Amino acid sequence: MTSTTNKTHEVALDRVDIIRRTADYVRGQLAHENSGHDWWHVYRVLQLAKRLADREGADRFIVELAALLHDIADWKFHDGDEEVGPRVAKAWLESLHVPQPICRQVADIIRRISFHGAGTASVTTTIEGKVVQDADRLDAIGAIGIARVFMYSGSRDREMYDPDVPPTMHATAEAYKANRSSAINHFYEKLLLLSERLNTDAARKIAKDRHEFMEQYLDRFSPSGVAKRR
Ligand code: ADP
Ligand code: NI
Repeated sequence: MTSTTNKTHEVALDRVDIIRRTADYVRGQLAHENSGHDWWHVYRVLQLAKRLADREGADRFIVELAALLHDIADWKFHDGDEEVGPRVAKAWLESLHVPQPICRQVADIIRRISFHGAGTASVTTTIEGKVVQDADRLDAIGAIGIARVFMYSGSRDREMYDPDVPPTMHATAEAYKANRSSAINHFYEKLLLLSERLNTDAARKIAKDRHEFMEQYLDRFSPSGVAKRR
């Protein structure tokens, strides 16, 4: 009896320590990130993911690890290689002796989290994956989402807005990954599509306001509807 209690206690302490060390690692890696994928993005995703996980009965340990590690090595910054992120995350967790099934689940969530274009389907399967994907998508919309688009576009030498170039509804992941869209076009190519692509009711509720705020923003950006189009 005593040993079970002790064991449970030990496991709980280990998990707290693993989360803390992972947060320190991610914070160190992403502290000076300048494209909207910085530590505070990860922190917001973590807070949202915890809320959603509790509502949905998802495994908190897996959700927290995946939220913390989801942008540790994004394909956009690694020549489009989508395996780098899952690989780096898995290697980190293995270095902390996290059990293999958990390492694999976290890597799998990261592998499937990204948006790949208007014409492509989301492929998240587990409730833990759905929750982390929703949290990441909620941080891509609303006031913070607007700020992040412009940060990303600036960091990648993309234009803010070109009224002569209409948005593209990318049919394949390859086309989406190759795009060099303006910041305003990114709203039409991704951000305005996200609230329809959330997995959980709790996330849909949070998204409603944020989505409307982006629509109002675009109206104000171009009251004549040029940016709204087409
Ligand atoms: P995910 O891959 O998880 O769907 P991303 O990392 O691609 O999310 O995008 C996160 C945020 O980075 C976007 O919501 C947006 O703010 C910015 N971003 C990503 N791609 C672009 C782009 N092509 N143009 C402008 N902003 C972008
Ligand atoms: Ni993210």
